[in-house]
Amino acid sequence: MSLQQGQIASDLALALKAISSATDLEDLKQIKIDHVGDKSALAKANQALATIDSSQRAEFGKLVGSARGEVNQAFEKKSIELANLRDSKVLLTEKVDVTLNGRRTLKGGLHPLTILTNEISDLFIGLGYKVAEGPELESEWLNFDALNIPADHPARTMQDTFFVEPLDAKLVLRTHTSPVQIRTMLYQKPPIYVICPGKTYRADELDATHTPVFHQVEGLVIDENITMADLKGTLDYFAKSIFGSEATTRLRPSFFPFTEPSAEVDIFFNGRWIEWGGCGMVNEKVLVACGVDTKKYSGFAFGMGLERTLMVKHGIIDMHDIVEGDVRFTQSFGVGKR
Ligand code: PHE
Repeated sequence: MSLQQGQIASDLALALKAISSATDLEDLKQIKIDHVGDKSALAKANQALATIDSSQRAEFGKLVGSARGEVNQAFEKKSIELANLRDSKVLLTEKVDVTLNGRRTLKGGLHPLTILTNEISDLFIGLGYKVAEGPELESEWLNFDALNIPADHPARTMQDTFFVEPLDAKLVLRTHTSPVQIRTMLYQKPPIYVICPGKTYRADELDATHTPVFHQVEGLVIDENITMADLKGTLDYFAKSIFGSEATTRLRPSFFPFTEPSAEVDIFFNGRWIEWGGCGMVNEKVLVACGVDTKKYSGFAFGMGLERTLMVKHGIIDMHDIVEGDVRFTQSFGVGKR
Protein backbone atom coordinates (compact mmCIF):
# COMPACT_ATOMS: atom_id res chain seq x y z
CA MET A 1 0.00 0.00 0.00
CA SER A 2 1.20 3.43 -0.72
CA LEU A 3 0.59 6.48 1.35
CA GLN A 4 -0.19 9.85 -0.07
CA GLN A 5 -0.36 13.09 1.79
CA GLY A 6 -3.40 14.21 -0.18
CA GLN A 7 -5.23 11.03 0.68
CA ILE A 8 -4.62 11.46 4.41
CA ALA A 9 -5.80 15.05 4.24
CA SER A 10 -8.98 14.07 2.44
CA ASP A 11 -9.64 11.14 4.83
CA LEU A 12 -9.23 13.60 7.68
CA ALA A 13 -11.55 16.12 6.08
CA LEU A 14 -14.12 13.41 5.38
CA ALA A 15 -13.99 12.14 8.96
CA LEU A 16 -14.33 15.64 10.44
CA LYS A 17 -17.20 16.44 8.15
CA ALA A 18 -19.01 13.22 9.05
CA ILE A 19 -18.50 13.84 12.77
CA SER A 20 -19.74 17.39 12.60
CA SER A 21 -22.82 16.32 10.64
CA ALA A 22 -23.94 13.78 13.29
CA THR A 23 -27.28 14.78 14.84
CA ASP A 24 -27.55 12.17 17.57
CA LEU A 25 -25.57 9.47 19.38
CA GLU A 26 -26.98 6.77 17.14
CA ASP A 27 -25.51 8.56 14.07
CA LEU A 28 -22.23 8.93 15.86
CA LYS A 29 -21.99 5.21 16.47
CA GLN A 30 -21.92 4.47 12.74
CA ILE A 31 -19.50 7.36 12.12
CA LYS A 32 -17.17 5.88 14.68
CA ILE A 33 -17.10 2.60 12.79
CA ASP A 34 -16.54 4.29 9.43
CA HIS A 35 -14.09 7.04 10.38
CA VAL A 36 -12.56 6.44 13.81
CA GLY A 37 -12.43 2.70 14.50
CA ASP A 38 -10.02 -0.01 13.37
CA LYS A 39 -11.58 -0.24 9.92
CA SER A 40 -11.47 3.45 9.11
CA ALA A 41 -9.23 4.81 6.35
CA LEU A 42 -6.96 6.56 8.84
CA ALA A 43 -6.53 3.40 10.92
CA LYS A 44 -5.58 1.55 7.79
CA ALA A 45 -3.10 4.29 6.88
CA ASN A 46 -1.62 3.86 10.33
CA GLN A 47 -1.22 0.14 9.73
CA ALA A 48 0.37 0.87 6.32
CA LEU A 49 3.18 2.83 8.02
CA ALA A 50 4.93 -0.48 8.68
CA THR A 51 5.13 -1.21 4.98
CA ILE A 52 6.53 2.04 3.68
CA ASP A 53 10.09 3.02 3.21
CA SER A 54 11.74 3.88 6.50
CA SER A 55 12.94 7.24 5.14
CA GLN A 56 9.31 8.35 4.82
CA ARG A 57 7.99 6.64 7.92
CA ALA A 58 8.66 9.46 10.41
CA GLU A 59 7.06 12.11 8.24
CA PHE A 60 3.97 10.04 7.41
CA GLY A 61 3.78 8.78 10.94
CA LYS A 62 3.46 12.34 12.21
CA LEU A 63 0.87 13.16 9.60
CA VAL A 64 -1.31 10.11 10.28
CA GLY A 65 -0.86 10.49 14.04
CA SER A 66 -1.96 14.10 14.09
CA ALA A 67 -4.89 13.36 11.73
CA ARG A 68 -6.08 10.54 14.01
CA GLY A 69 -5.58 12.74 17.06
CA GLU A 70 -7.69 15.44 15.48
CA VAL A 71 -10.43 12.94 14.55
CA ASN A 72 -10.46 11.45 18.07
CA GLN A 73 -10.70 14.87 19.64
CA ALA A 74 -13.51 15.91 17.32
CA PHE A 75 -15.26 12.65 18.03
CA GLU A 76 -14.99 13.07 21.84
CA LYS A 77 -16.19 16.64 21.64
CA LYS A 78 -19.13 15.67 19.49
CA SER A 79 -20.16 12.76 21.70
CA ILE A 80 -20.19 14.99 24.79
CA GLU A 81 -22.23 17.56 22.88
CA LEU A 82 -24.74 14.97 21.65
CA ALA A 83 -24.99 13.31 25.09
CA ASN A 84 -25.84 16.70 26.61
CA LEU A 85 -28.41 17.28 23.91
CA ARG A 86 -30.00 13.90 24.60
CA ASP A 87 -30.10 14.60 28.34
CA SER A 88 -31.76 17.96 27.94
CA LYS A 89 -34.32 16.45 25.56
CA VAL A 90 -35.08 13.72 28.09
CA LEU A 91 -35.57 16.36 30.77
CA LEU A 92 -38.10 18.10 28.56
CA THR A 93 -40.01 15.11 27.24
CA GLU A 94 -39.91 12.92 30.32
CA LYS A 95 -40.64 15.53 32.93
CA VAL A 96 -42.55 14.44 36.03
CA ASP A 97 -45.41 16.50 37.37
CA VAL A 98 -44.95 16.09 41.09
CA THR A 99 -48.22 17.91 41.75
CA LEU A 100 -50.31 15.19 40.05
CA ASN A 101 -52.41 12.95 42.30
CA GLY A 102 -50.88 9.56 42.96
CA ARG A 103 -52.58 6.40 41.71
CA ARG A 104 -54.65 4.99 44.55
CA THR A 105 -55.49 1.36 44.98
CA LEU A 106 -58.67 0.32 46.71
CA LYS A 107 -57.64 -0.98 50.10
CA GLY A 108 -60.89 -2.61 51.14
CA GLY A 109 -62.51 -1.71 54.41
CA LEU A 110 -64.29 -2.98 57.46
CA HIS A 111 -67.96 -3.92 57.28
CA PRO A 112 -70.18 -1.48 59.23
CA LEU A 113 -71.01 -4.34 61.64
CA THR A 114 -67.32 -4.81 62.38
CA ILE A 115 -66.93 -1.08 62.92
CA LEU A 116 -69.87 -1.12 65.35
CA THR A 117 -68.43 -4.15 67.15
CA ASN A 118 -65.10 -2.38 67.54
CA GLU A 119 -66.85 0.75 68.78
CA ILE A 120 -68.78 -1.22 71.41
CA SER A 121 -65.68 -3.16 72.46
CA ASP A 122 -63.74 0.08 72.83
CA LEU A 123 -66.36 1.74 74.97
CA PHE A 124 -66.60 -1.23 77.36
CA ILE A 125 -62.82 -1.62 77.49
CA GLY A 126 -62.87 2.02 78.58
CA LEU A 127 -65.12 0.94 81.50
CA GLY A 128 -62.61 -1.76 82.50
CA TYR A 129 -64.34 -4.71 80.82
CA LYS A 130 -62.53 -7.51 78.97
CA VAL A 131 -63.65 -8.86 75.62
CA ALA A 132 -64.46 -12.59 75.85
CA GLU A 133 -64.90 -15.03 73.01
CA GLY A 134 -66.44 -18.46 72.64
CA PRO A 135 -66.98 -21.00 69.87
CA GLU A 136 -69.85 -20.73 67.39
CA LEU A 137 -70.25 -24.50 67.44
CA GLU A 138 -71.32 -24.89 71.06
CA SER A 139 -72.32 -27.74 73.35
CA GLU A 140 -76.04 -27.99 74.03
CA TRP A 141 -75.24 -27.97 77.71
CA LEU A 142 -73.54 -24.53 77.53
CA ASN A 143 -76.03 -23.07 75.07
CA PHE A 144 -79.12 -24.29 76.99
CA ASP A 145 -78.84 -26.43 80.17
CA ALA A 146 -76.33 -24.33 82.06
CA LEU A 147 -78.45 -21.28 81.23
CA ASN A 148 -81.46 -22.91 82.90
CA ILE A 149 -83.20 -23.49 79.57
CA PRO A 150 -84.97 -26.82 80.13
CA ALA A 151 -85.12 -29.58 77.52
CA ASP A 152 -88.75 -28.79 76.66
CA HIS A 153 -88.14 -25.06 76.16
CA PRO A 154 -89.43 -23.91 72.76
CA ALA A 155 -86.07 -22.31 71.93
CA ARG A 156 -84.61 -25.79 71.60
CA THR A 157 -86.95 -27.02 68.90
CA MET A 158 -85.89 -27.41 65.29
CA GLN A 159 -87.59 -24.11 64.46
CA ASP A 160 -85.05 -22.02 66.23
CA THR A 161 -81.92 -24.07 66.63
CA PHE A 162 -79.50 -25.48 64.09
CA PHE A 163 -78.64 -28.89 65.52
CA VAL A 164 -75.47 -30.41 64.19
CA GLU A 165 -75.00 -34.04 63.17
CA PRO A 166 -74.26 -36.50 64.65
CA LEU A 167 -77.05 -35.49 67.04
CA ASP A 168 -75.70 -37.56 69.93
CA ALA A 169 -72.61 -35.29 69.98
CA LYS A 170 -75.05 -32.71 71.40
CA LEU A 171 -73.59 -29.76 69.50
CA VAL A 172 -75.54 -26.77 68.18
CA LEU A 173 -74.72 -23.58 66.35
CA ARG A 174 -75.03 -21.21 69.30
CA THR A 175 -78.38 -19.45 69.28
CA HIS A 176 -77.09 -16.57 71.42
CA THR A 177 -73.85 -15.33 72.96
CA SER A 178 -75.05 -16.25 76.48
CA PRO A 179 -73.01 -19.51 76.63
CA VAL A 180 -69.97 -17.22 76.83
CA GLN A 181 -71.36 -16.03 80.21
CA ILE A 182 -71.14 -19.63 81.38
CA ARG A 183 -67.69 -20.23 79.93
CA THR A 184 -66.43 -17.04 81.58
CA MET A 185 -67.87 -17.90 85.01
CA LEU A 186 -66.52 -21.46 84.78
CA TYR A 187 -63.01 -20.33 83.96
CA GLN A 188 -62.66 -17.03 85.85
CA LYS A 189 -63.11 -15.99 89.45
CA PRO A 190 -65.19 -12.88 90.21
CA PRO A 191 -65.04 -9.96 89.89
CA ILE A 192 -65.97 -10.46 86.25
CA TYR A 193 -66.58 -7.65 83.75
CA VAL A 194 -66.81 -8.96 80.19
CA ILE A 195 -68.56 -8.34 76.94
CA CYS A 196 -68.79 -10.94 74.22
CA PRO A 197 -69.55 -9.82 70.70
CA GLY A 198 -70.03 -12.69 68.24
CA LYS A 199 -71.89 -14.56 65.55
CA THR A 200 -75.09 -16.38 66.42
CA TYR A 201 -77.44 -18.65 64.47
CA ARG A 202 -81.18 -19.27 64.34
CA ALA A 203 -83.24 -21.10 61.77
CA ASP A 204 -84.95 -17.99 60.37
CA GLU A 205 -85.54 -17.10 56.74
CA LEU A 206 -83.60 -14.09 55.47
CA ASP A 207 -86.06 -11.22 55.12
CA ALA A 208 -86.16 -7.48 55.78
CA THR A 209 -85.81 -7.94 59.55
CA HIS A 210 -84.38 -11.46 60.04
CA THR A 211 -81.24 -13.31 59.10
CA PRO A 212 -80.27 -16.87 60.08
CA VAL A 213 -76.71 -15.73 60.84
CA PHE A 214 -76.58 -12.63 62.96
CA HIS A 215 -74.51 -11.02 65.70
CA GLN A 216 -75.07 -10.27 69.33
CA VAL A 217 -73.13 -8.58 72.04
CA GLU A 218 -73.46 -10.05 75.51
CA GLY A 219 -72.45 -8.24 78.68
CA LEU A 220 -71.78 -9.92 82.02
CA VAL A 221 -70.83 -8.45 85.38
CA ILE A 222 -70.31 -10.50 88.54
CA ASP A 223 -69.10 -8.63 91.61
CA GLU A 224 -70.07 -7.79 95.18
CA ASN A 225 -73.19 -5.65 95.67
CA ILE A 226 -74.23 -5.59 92.04
CA THR A 227 -77.83 -4.46 91.65
CA MET A 228 -80.29 -3.69 88.91
CA ALA A 229 -79.32 -0.01 89.29
CA ASP A 230 -75.82 -0.89 88.05
CA LEU A 231 -77.41 -2.65 85.07
CA LYS A 232 -79.60 0.34 84.26
CA GLY A 233 -76.70 2.78 84.57
CA THR A 234 -74.51 0.63 82.34
CA LEU A 235 -77.25 0.31 79.69
CA ASP A 236 -77.85 4.08 79.72
CA TYR A 237 -74.14 4.73 79.24
CA PHE A 238 -74.02 2.12 76.45
CA ALA A 239 -77.05 3.67 74.72
CA LYS A 240 -75.70 7.23 74.94
CA SER A 241 -72.30 6.16 73.61
CA ILE A 242 -73.81 4.45 70.57
CA PHE A 243 -76.91 6.54 69.83
CA GLY A 244 -75.90 9.95 71.17
CA SER A 245 -76.38 11.83 74.43
CA GLU A 246 -80.17 12.22 73.91
CA ALA A 247 -80.71 8.44 74.05
CA THR A 248 -82.07 6.80 77.21
CA THR A 249 -83.20 3.27 78.06
CA ARG A 250 -86.25 1.81 79.73
CA LEU A 251 -86.70 -1.66 81.18
CA ARG A 252 -89.91 -3.65 80.68
CA PRO A 253 -90.54 -6.76 82.79
CA SER A 254 -89.90 -9.91 80.80
CA PHE A 255 -88.69 -13.48 81.15
CA PHE A 256 -85.43 -15.23 80.38
CA PRO A 257 -84.58 -18.54 82.06
CA PHE A 258 -81.05 -17.36 82.87
CA THR A 259 -81.93 -14.02 84.50
CA GLU A 260 -84.22 -13.23 87.43
CA PRO A 261 -85.64 -10.66 87.36
CA SER A 262 -85.53 -10.20 83.59
CA ALA A 263 -86.37 -7.25 81.39
CA GLU A 264 -86.57 -6.11 77.82
CA VAL A 265 -84.41 -3.06 77.11
CA ASP A 266 -85.95 -0.33 74.97
CA ILE A 267 -84.08 2.74 73.83
CA PHE A 268 -85.51 6.16 73.25
CA PHE A 269 -84.07 7.31 69.96
CA ASN A 270 -85.31 9.77 67.34
CA GLY A 271 -88.46 10.48 69.34
CA ARG A 272 -89.69 6.94 69.94
CA TRP A 273 -89.17 3.84 72.04
CA ILE A 274 -87.53 0.94 70.19
CA GLU A 275 -86.93 -2.61 71.43
CA TRP A 276 -83.18 -3.14 71.72
CA GLY A 277 -82.36 -6.32 73.68
CA GLY A 278 -82.77 -8.40 76.80
CA CYS A 279 -81.24 -8.16 80.27
CA GLY A 280 -81.60 -9.06 83.92
CA MET A 281 -79.87 -10.15 87.11
CA VAL A 282 -78.08 -13.45 86.54
CA ASN A 283 -80.33 -16.25 87.85
CA GLU A 284 -79.02 -17.79 91.07
CA LYS A 285 -79.40 -21.25 89.51
CA VAL A 286 -76.97 -20.23 86.78
CA LEU A 287 -74.49 -18.83 89.31
CA VAL A 288 -74.65 -22.06 91.29
CA ALA A 289 -74.16 -24.19 88.15
CA CYS A 290 -71.00 -22.19 87.49
CA GLY A 291 -69.70 -22.47 91.04
CA VAL A 292 -70.10 -18.79 91.95
CA ASP A 293 -70.52 -18.05 95.68
CA THR A 294 -74.03 -16.54 95.68
CA LYS A 295 -73.69 -15.27 99.26
CA LYS A 296 -70.89 -12.99 98.19
CA TYR A 297 -71.59 -12.23 94.56
CA SER A 298 -74.44 -11.20 92.31
CA GLY A 299 -74.42 -10.01 88.75
CA PHE A 300 -76.23 -8.75 85.70
CA ALA A 301 -76.24 -9.71 82.04
CA PHE A 302 -77.55 -8.13 78.88
CA GLY A 303 -77.65 -9.08 75.22
CA MET A 304 -78.36 -7.09 72.05
CA GLY A 305 -78.55 -7.87 68.36
CA LEU A 306 -75.85 -5.97 66.49
CA GLU A 307 -77.71 -5.92 63.17
CA ARG A 308 -80.69 -4.43 64.97
CA THR A 309 -78.47 -1.85 66.68
CA LEU A 310 -76.95 -0.90 63.32
CA MET A 311 -80.39 -0.67 61.68
CA VAL A 312 -81.81 1.56 64.41
CA LYS A 313 -78.73 3.76 64.56
CA HIS A 314 -78.55 4.36 60.80
CA GLY A 315 -82.20 4.02 59.81
CA ILE A 316 -81.50 0.92 57.70
CA ILE A 317 -84.83 -0.68 56.81
CA ASP A 318 -83.75 -3.82 54.97
CA MET A 319 -81.57 -6.55 56.52
CA HIS A 320 -80.50 -7.59 53.01
CA ASP A 321 -78.34 -4.46 52.83
CA ILE A 322 -76.31 -5.60 55.84
CA VAL A 323 -76.00 -9.21 54.72
CA GLU A 324 -75.41 -9.00 50.99
CA GLY A 325 -72.04 -7.25 51.04
CA ASP A 326 -72.81 -4.77 48.25
CA VAL A 327 -69.86 -2.37 48.26
CA ARG A 328 -72.18 0.61 47.63
CA PHE A 329 -73.75 -0.03 51.04
CA THR A 330 -70.43 -0.17 52.88
CA GLN A 331 -69.15 2.86 50.98
CA SER A 332 -72.04 4.93 52.28
CA PHE A 333 -70.41 4.42 55.71
CA GLY A 334 -67.23 6.02 54.32
CA VAL A 335 -65.57 2.63 54.00
CA GLY A 336 -63.25 1.56 51.20
CA LYS A 337 -63.63 4.76 49.19
CA ARG A 338 -61.09 5.68 46.54
N1 PHE B 1 -79.61 -14.30 75.26
C1 PHE B 1 -80.81 -13.52 75.10
C2 PHE B 1 -81.31 -13.64 73.67
O1 PHE B 1 -80.62 -14.10 72.84
C3 PHE B 1 -80.55 -12.08 75.42
C4 PHE B 1 -80.18 -11.86 76.84
C5 PHE B 1 -78.85 -11.85 77.23
C6 PHE B 1 -81.15 -11.69 77.81
C7 PHE B 1 -78.52 -11.65 78.54
C8 PHE B 1 -80.81 -11.49 79.12
C9 PHE B 1 -79.50 -11.47 79.48
O2 PHE B 1 -82.41 -13.27 73.39
